[in-house]
Amino acid sequence: MLQQSKLAQMGEMISMIAHQWRQPLNNLSMLNQSIKIKYKRDSLDAKTMDYFFENSSKQIAQMSQTIDDFRGFFKPDKEKVEFCIHDVISNCLNIIGPILHQKNIQIDVVDDLTLMLVGYPNELGQVILNLVHNAIDAFEDKKKNDKMIQIYLKRSDDTTIVMIRDNAGGIPHDILPNIFDPYFSTKENKNGTGLGLYMSKLIIEDHMSGKITVENSRDGALFYLSFSNEARVGN
Ligand SMILES: Nc1ncnc2c1ncn2[C@@H]1O[C@H](COP(=O)(O)OP(=O)(O)OP(=O)(O)O)[C@@H](O)[C@H]1O
Ligand SMILES: [Mg+2]
Repeated sequence: MLQQSKLAQMGEMISMIAHQWRQPLNNLSMLNQSIKIKYKRDSLDAKTMDYFFENSSKQIAQMSQTIDDFRGFFKPDKEKVEFCIHDVISNCLNIIGPILHQKNIQIDVVDDLTLMLVGYPNELGQVILNLVHNAIDAFEDKKKNDKMIQIYLKRSDDTTIVMIRDNAGGIPHDILPNIFDPYFSTKENKNGTGLGLYMSKLIIEDHMSGKITVENSRDGALFYLSFSNEARVGN
């Protein structure tokens, strides 16, 4: 099962990288064509060459930055560390931001730079990414012009909570008790593995001693990731 979920995740990762590479690849291909045309017309001067060099270098740097981002993001965590939740969210947005932008989905993050957790930052990042992906899927085929995903952080005396909500209509009541089950998916025709939420629960509850819960809010799904502040003491 782990294998299957890894494969699904890899497919997802490749499509996100492909997405981020499309633009710089197009730009490089255009630069390439234009330099060939200039050469044919005998107008390949130093200025053009500089322009070509600078711009193609920029595109290449951007592509290589994408690889670094992804590599960092999906690197397995070796040990528990204390980390800033804000960093995890912002790495997440680096990865998924372009897709949200393309799909016209607003992302609203109410952040707190001081909130820390103890555990596995990359695993938490993957959970948040799963939840955001599910929200994106839920918006699919919905005609709505204020698509919005919100991420809130909140700390009370004894818990630290990450809330992720969307306004995509919510989860039908009859399936609500099943969504964390392995292989439960309503996306049969879209290759959903039904492992996203199952793995997320495993990560949050078994690896990070937290709790993942869900409810329907007024206009969409609302997921809570909560962690006891106690767990941080003496860790
Ligand atoms: N934000 C959401 N809004 C509406 N339904 C949701 C939302 N998140 C999850 N669901 C429902 O829960 C089901 C299980 O989600 P899960 O992430 O485990 O699997 P999946 O998304 O179907 O497959 P995969 O994660 O492999 O793409 C989904 O098929 C969907 O029906
Ligand atoms: Mg999913």
